Amino acid sequence: MPVSIRDILLYKQQGRLITALTAWDALWADMLDQAGVDLILVGDSLAMVALGHHTTLPLTLEEMIHHAKAVRRSVKNALLVCDLPFMSYQESPQQALRAAGRCLKEAEVEAVKVEGGYATMVATVATLVDAGIPVLGHVGLTPQSVHIQGLRQQGQSPENQDRLHQEALALEQAGAFGLVLEHIPDTLAQSISQSLSIPTIGIGAGAHCDGQILVTADVLGLGQRLPPFAKAYADLRSLSSQALAQFCQEVRNGQFPAPRSSPP
Ligand code: KIV
Repeated sequence: MPVSIRDILLYKQQGRLITALTAWDALWADMLDQAGVDLILVGDSLAMVALGHHTTLPLTLEEMIHHAKAVRRSVKNALLVCDLPFMSYQESPQQALRAAGRCLKEAEVEAVKVEGGYATMVATVATLVDAGIPVLGHVGLTPQSVHIQGLRQQGQSPENQDRLHQEALALEQAGAFGLVLEHIPDTLAQSISQSLSIPTIGIGAGAHCDGQILVTADVLGLGQRLPPFAKAYADLRSLSSQALAQFCQEVRNGQFPAPRSSPP
């Protein structure tokens, strides 16, 4: 049975930790789905991972829908969520409704993720949920605000910790089915997780969240730089480089293809 929003909520009640990873194309999405990941996010980090941008900001809604459609073709079991790209939803709840509606109708994702927990975003989440669109919230380090926050850990002062906690509660109240907590102190993530009935999914937020998400390129060791809170479970960058160099070498020195003894 495919993972549903209900399952994700149930996992928290059962104390079953949620696994989540990002995907940007059909090939990797298939492998993630086969591995049994609970939630697959077509994250806007694909702007950097797959499109070569330096931040997530240039990604357009058209590009997100294009990648989400590819991922959708492979994902049969995991809950599929896509990010709303920068400036496709911040203007007004109505703008968010149009963008999220397109993601559900055209890419057939099951939910969208939006960044921030300030008052307008809380109203936006409530509007989306009222329209039947499930929303995953995202607070702490929010990469779409990189030019204000940088990439620093958030929630270091007591005032900021209190604000993030209030934002998390407000997003739950607005109807979000879960919350990504990015790059905040472990103790803050723990107290937010304990006070919410919806699951928290941490990235750089310690071991006390209700699940963990990472960028798949980091998990596979495909990227050039690993964020301090990520873990590479393989070194596919070295392995791929070796394989590619060997192909070039074998073609150039006539080793590949091997001579055929008979016509095909
Ligand atoms: O786009 C992304 O990769 C994210 C992270 C939280 C995984 O939003």
